[in-house]
Amino acid sequence: MAELNGKRLVLGVTGGIAAYKAADLARLLVKAGADVHVVLTASGAQFVTPVTFQALTGNPAWSDQWDARMPSNMAHIDLSRGADAIVVAPASADFLAKLAHGLADDLLSTLCLARTRAGLDGAGQDCPLIVAPAMNRQMWEHPATQRNKSQLLQDGVIVLGPASGEQACGETGMGRMLEAAELHDALVGVFQPKVLAGRRVLLTAGPTFEALDPVRGLTNPSSGKMGFALARAVRDAGAEVTLVCGPVAQPTPSGVARVDVLSAREMRDAVLRHVRETDIFIAVAAVADYRPEQTAAQKIKKAAQPLTLTLQPNPDILAEIAALPKPPFCVGFAAESENLDEYAQGKRSAKKLPLVVGNLLRHGLGGDENTIVMFDDEGRHPLGPAPKIEIARGIVAHIGQMLAGNGE
Ligand code: C5P
Repeated sequence: MAELNGKRLVLGVTGGIAAYKAADLARLLVKAGADVHVVLTASGAQFVTPVTFQALTGNPAWSDQWDARMPSNMAHIDLSRGADAIVVAPASADFLAKLAHGLADDLLSTLCLARTRAGLDGAGQDCPLIVAPAMNRQMWEHPATQRNKSQLLQDGVIVLGPASGEQACGETGMGRMLEAAELHDALVGVFQPKVLAGRRVLLTAGPTFEALDPVRGLTNPSSGKMGFALARAVRDAGAEVTLVCGPVAQPTPSGVARVDVLSAREMRDAVLRHVRETDIFIAVAAVADYRPEQTAAQKIKKAAQPLTLTLQPNPDILAEIAALPKPPFCVGFAAESENLDEYAQGKRSAKKLPLVVGNLLRHGLGGDENTIVMFDDEGRHPLGPAPKIEIARGIVAHIGQMLAGNGE
């Protein structure tokens, strides 16, 4: 998907073993439609050569400030002037220190310093600087590095990671660079309009699992993909996100607070715990409408006679939240097998929701694409077919418009 179409990016690579992941990142960024220009520090080029990046990006990769092949002797200005963002991945402890102090003794540090204004006349926009630290755990935890990190955050630099885990040096701890896919994901997010800046958003996603006995239960095939795509889109729009999810096999988007639950009642409890600090509640979960009246403590044994299950209705989480004295802005989903408009509108009025997102089951369930219709007071707003993340960004834009229209 071309989520970075038309974006010109400078990818800075400094010295660290995580430089090998930068090659993968360059490939992902190019695949997403970006025009990628790689600048390596001298030690970065010891780990991966410029030739690798040249082959992956189709552009010359630079490492020597004095390289006579440079189109002009103002490469530090030229490279950053047209850039939509500069991403330094990996960013070593030494490079963070340089950035924090405004040192400029090689091509990459010089162009990071020269990026403050995109136009020579000073009238341009700031070009975002994003760094993905990668270093040994002790180097990361060192007060000097932490001081530099704080300074960079104060200067408006976006710091992605590091993550915790096994390190090349054999130690385990904070300092691993985020994976290329996570960095790509975060970078796409940087370019999204911040229509939900400062809002606190609570989402439910995935199926619920209603236990029959210790090894069996009632559930449904919801993958959680739409809910997770929405969590990403909401985060990218500048919101603080809590995601309550049933059993799904989706990785947690970075920066999203995830609460895992199994049953509808557990999901309800988790939602109630968080709802007070919530401005927007988006119920994407395919919550089981019923649960077995009894959960057997031991495994139910096979027998020749038919087995009858008695089911009890589950609480309707969304209806309960929407009926609170001061409810958050509530968004419901309606996945239907037929009569989409009628059923979705019915749910909207029954649960008193400002917005319901409807889709026909054959379009959305389990897959990577969806086709939806949003229903609100103004009528119906169709969207798609499109990848779920694009649908999610469309829904977020619509919520942003509705809130702005309400003067909220
Ligand atoms: O199940 P139904 O079609 O009524 O679901 C409509 C909306 O209500 C969905 O947004 C779903 O997440 C939510 N819901 C809920 N709790 C339930 C059932 C549905 O929050 N028990």
